[in-house]
Amino acid sequence: MKEHQIQLLIEEAIKARDYAYAPYSHFKVGAALLCGDNSIYRGCNVENASYPAGNCAERTAIFKAVSEGKTNFQAIAIVGGKENGKLEYCPPCGICRQVLSEFCEEDFLVILSDNDRDYKQYKLIELLPLQFEL
Ligand code: THU
Repeated sequence: MKEHQIQLLIEEAIKARDYAYAPYSHFKVGAALLCGDNSIYRGCNVENASYPAGNCAERTAIFKAVSEGKTNFQAIAIVGGKENGKLEYCPPCGICRQVLSEFCEEDFLVILSDNDRDYKQYKLIELLPLQFEL
């Protein structure tokens, strides 16, 4: 992926985080998913008073995209951090890794950033070897 595409995706994830609904954890997460056709779907975490009913930012983005007919993905950028604090590296949880693996090839990139410039990138296969498959 080109550097400017990565930076754009991180910016989109930062914007997505503005809409995080996290009144229980006060930890806000934003994600931006780059599709095969170069469209971008944003997602944020959406919590619930019944805690397990909440959803992570990454799954919000992927479910939005799949529900609109997109099933081919190149990369996801993720940013997170406490409501009134600085951004931290926010690796995707195990459930989100499994959901990503359902739709993404082994070269799919997971980009983590703690500001609008620096980032780390991983292949999905590094983060989830031995995914569950039926
Ligand atoms: N969260 C995400 O949105 N993505 C992750 O991969 C890990 C955790 C959210 C869920 C919850 O709303 C908050 O962060 C604290 O766990």
